[in-house]
Amino acid sequence: MITQQHRLGSGFGPHSTADDVLTGTDLTGATALVTGGYSGLGLAAVRALARAGARVIVPARRTAAAEDALAGVGGTEVHPLDLADLDSVRDLARRLRGRRIDIAITNAGVMACPETRVGPGWEMHLAVNHLGHFALVNLLRPQFSAGARVVSVSSSGHFLSGIRWDDIHFRTGYDRWLAYAQAKTANALFAVHLDRLGAADGLHAFAVHPGSILTPLQRHVPREEWRKLGWVGPDGRPAEGFKTPEQGAATAVWAATSPLLAGHGGAYCQDCDVAQPADSDDMLVGGVKPWAVDPGAAARLWELSADLTGTGA
Ligand SMILES: NC(=O)c1ccc[n+]([C@@H]2O[C@H](COP(=O)([O-])OP(=O)(O)OC[C@H]3O[C@@H](n4cnc5c(N)ncnc54)[C@H](OP(=O)(O)O)[C@@H]3O)[C@@H](O)[C@H]2O)c1
Repeated sequence: MITQQHRLGSGFGPHSTADDVLTGTDLTGATALVTGGYSGLGLAAVRALARAGARVIVPARRTAAAEDALAGVGGTEVHPLDLADLDSVRDLARRLRGRRIDIAITNAGVMACPETRVGPGWEMHLAVNHLGHFALVNLLRPQFSAGARVVSVSSSGHFLSGIRWDDIHFRTGYDRWLAYAQAKTANALFAVHLDRLGAADGLHAFAVHPGSILTPLQRHVPREEWRKLGWVGPDGRPAEGFKTPEQGAATAVWAATSPLLAGHGGAYCQDCDVAQPADSDDMLVGGVKPWAVDPGAAARLWELSADLTGTGA
């Protein structure tokens, strides 16, 4: 069943930037956490949140690179985190113990990696993009303020696959695009069930598709494939419809702060609004496929993720 997937008419759109959606919003006194907030969309989100007055915690796999990227961005702090390693996730949760969190944007991610196994043999996309974030949010959950929001950065990449219940770790054959797709469906389903569980405490969750943006995310895809995939034109510049990182960060920041989303918890958003159900397979057009917002699948994935990570039960 698809619930709540209809546009609200936010007044923002694909060209809006993270600063645009925060105009007039004062986040002084609020604490935000943005994983991967030192590259691509995450960095643009951190800059905008910090400009609006938030204190921003930036967990980073490469802390020196994060310190460099955030030099001059006041109100930010970098902490080590490798989402592929649950010990590292637990260490971060320990470091942050006692800190109140108002916004968490679970943004870090990998795409189209060669087959890689982490931890107890988990497939890398599922482990980093979903399971690491699942554990982190659950460990921090007691610290979320009433009214806090978690924004799970998904992708229209979810179009290619629902959850592969019979082979979630690709043990019978690996496909880098299906691995990314499954993990991005997991990101969307995480928001659906987290919102259901968190609502009683005033915690709400949303999933977002940021749009298409050239960032270091594409590093595992050979340049020769970029044109074939429609990412760049003949001149090598981003194809029509691609966004800047500041535009790409806008939907996550909007979902983290917009009063318009009250009562729409669990929704999948794009272009600074709730997304419509997808009526085509064109990922550039976007929208959301039914398997990414299915409450039954969300509950089932939650249970499986809780078993795997030992958190969130
Ligand atoms: N760009 C797009 O067109 C697009 C479209 C749809 C969805 N998205 C989603 O948007 C999010 C941000 O993507 P982006 O384009 O901004 O990519 P990006 O520039 O590559 O940023 C991804 C961030 O995730 C971090 N990360 C990767 N593996 C990690 C790990 N094991 N532990 C901790 N952090 C890790 C990276 O750290 P390092 O720099 O240290 O590797 C980086 O800071 C991703 O979830 C992606 O799936 C992007």
